[in-house]
Amino acid sequence: MGVTAILLAAGRGERFGGDKTQLVVRGRPLWRYAYDTFRSIPEITEIGIVTHPDRVDAFRDMAQDADFVVAGGSTRGESARRGVEASTQELVLLHDAARPFVSAEVIGRVIEGLQTADAVAACIPVVDTIKQVVGLDVATLDRSRLVAMQTPQGSRRNLLLKAYDEVSQEFTDEMALLEQIGIRPHLVAGDPANFKVTTPDDLLRTAGFLGAPETRTGLGYDIHPFADDDRPMMLGGVRFDGPGLSGHSDADVLLHAVTDSILGAVGLGDIGLHFPNTDPRWRGEASSVFLSHAAQLVREAGWEIVHLDATVIAEQPKIMIKANAIRESIANSVGISADRVSVKATTNEKLGALGRSEGIAAFAVATVRQMP
Ligand code: CTP
Ligand code: MG
Repeated sequence: MGVTAILLAAGRGERFGGDKTQLVVRGRPLWRYAYDTFRSIPEITEIGIVTHPDRVDAFRDMAQDADFVVAGGSTRGESARRGVEASTQELVLLHDAARPFVSAEVIGRVIEGLQTADAVAACIPVVDTIKQVVGLDVATLDRSRLVAMQTPQGSRRNLLLKAYDEVSQEFTDEMALLEQIGIRPHLVAGDPANFKVTTPDDLLRTAGFLGAPETRTGLGYDIHPFADDDRPMMLGGVRFDGPGLSGHSDADVLLHAVTDSILGAVGLGDIGLHFPNTDPRWRGEASSVFLSHAAQLVREAGWEIVHLDATVIAEQPKIMIKANAIRESIANSVGISADRVSVKATTNEKLGALGRSEGIAAFAVATVRQMP
């Protein structure tokens, strides 16, 4: 029996203060956490997303392997209905995109339950005492008989369509809807980790489940010979007197090393991959453009640059007299403050090619941290 998984992501997130499903958490939009988990389950033969009407195209682009992306409605129930209508498999699971940490085990229990039951949903015991308040009447409900409903919730596609057809009332979950046409839901164990991100405070719980943000380090190295024409000397985005270096771009050896260090910290390849020296676009280009672009890629991958440290190896020119200007220039290109950039210089003690002033080399180390 084929199974469709439908991710509901068409809410407005009013209690959160914005569409929480689009929030980028550790470099991944929130909706993608559950999406990737559903994708990894072999029994799921179709996967669809329900989103805002104005975000359908963006989602088709972001989730190219989704079997369908459809526009949701003004209520969760209406969004679910549109998803079910777009599905084609015999069994359908509906899941809140705002529940990022659904496990394969919980999904497996729902699918297994559907082999015999008509409707199955994940739920967890209630830990708080729940009171029913009607006007001035307050009644204490027996906690041992209460459960809190989660998703996924699943049923047969034809039963869901029948329920949508026959019941006009709105419900906050599929089980309540199916109960109206006489179907008794079978409940399976959910998981406290499968909570729904509802208010901004829930992000603290999210961070708790993801653990402390990771820190990584990257190394960059570059070397350029002196040019035989009269090009200007650029080091760290700052102009120096005297002969310049030869290279395809402005040959800023220090910025190239720094660029490689931040790309390396995140595993994004190297400068040659992003700015090939065979591409005429980069001929004579300012290397600060490369560095800014690399820093943007690093941020898009969900990392912030915490610190940069670099050493230039050169017999000439004297570099440290412009160290502060270099720190400012690098900090500017990367989008961090100058106190997070360190620049040092050394001669090569007249040893080897660098010692004979045939060129200049630079090393850089970048420290990056996962965004919360
Ligand atoms: N949802 C939906 N279509 C709607 C309303 C909700 O697809 N018209 C989705 C949400 O995107 C979310 C899930 O249903 O993944 C659970 O709903 P809820 O937590 O209530 O999210 P929102 O409706 O976005 O939040 P709020 O009620 O605070 O506005
Ligand atoms: Mg809602």
